[in-house]
Amino acid sequence: MASELIIKELHVAVNGQEILKGVNLTVQPGTVHAIMGPNGSGKSTLAYTIAGHPNYEVTDGEIIYKGENILELEADERSKLGIFLAFQYPVAVPGVTVANFLRAAINAQRAQEGVDPKETAIPMVQFRRELRAAMESLSMDESFARRYLNDGFSGGEKKRLEILQMTMLKPSMAVMDETDSGLDIDALRVVSEGVNRLLNPELGVLVITHYQRLLDYIKPQFVSVMMEGRVVRSGGPELALELEERGYDWIKEELVGDAS
Ligand SMILES: Nc1ncnc2c1ncn2[C@@H]1O[C@H](COP(=O)(O)OP(=O)(O)OP(=O)(O)O)[C@@H](O)[C@H]1O
Ligand SMILES: [Mg+2]
Repeated sequence: MASELIIKELHVAVNGQEILKGVNLTVQPGTVHAIMGPNGSGKSTLAYTIAGHPNYEVTDGEIIYKGENILELEADERSKLGIFLAFQYPVAVPGVTVANFLRAAINAQRAQEGVDPKETAIPMVQFRRELRAAMESLSMDESFARRYLNDGFSGGEKKRLEILQMTMLKPSMAVMDETDSGLDIDALRVVSEGVNRLLNPELGVLVITHYQRLLDYIKPQFVSVMMEGRVVRSGGPELALELEERGYDWIKEELVGDAS
């Protein structure tokens, strides 16, 4: 199908060092695909590469989305195509309020080549209404809209803001990098419900997590394990339960067995 995300034999280097060593992965629209794996296995590298971060140099392989080779697109063009990344470590932008940032992001997405941006900009009244509704659904106090982006936000507040962005931008391919980390139990539920409300037959979700706990809320159809820059195991939701119980050593041992 045309709106699949297809990653083929992807090799990525950072500062000249190869981090991803042939990743193969497909995310179908309307499905949730979880990626787990030890620290340093390349999960965030994969997320940044999909989003088009300039520091991540693709040395081989392909990423196809909606039938297009997105490696030829800049990050903003990928975003226009519907790709969204919720960061593991969101950055603070002092001087830019949450509301202004979101409005600029929405307007950038709506902009069309050769058309005056004023023509396509979201009407202020509509923006305010959508923002208020989205913040309410995520139990965020209205005052957050006037604060500077992530400036002085707690860990949990930053993660909530990522989901607020996702709610407002309505991507068709969402990559969530450890959105659960730092969330208290109530926030985990609120954020997960926020994500679940966005699920629809067009939306593909790639959720990176260390914990089964998140997957109790956001239920994946597929689970893949990354290790040392490769996807080494794939399965259904039961694979996450098995990892929770047994850790990663058994996979490492099986890999050594496979190689010999
Ligand atoms: N900008 C960078 N400069 C140097 N090394 C990097 C950079 N980005 C990633 N790496 C290295 O690439 C490897 C993979 O990192 P990555 O952040 O993708 O792992 P991860 O699977 O997301 O880990 P975690 O579970 O801890 O978030 C690590 O060894 C990391 O140090
Ligand atoms: Mg990471």
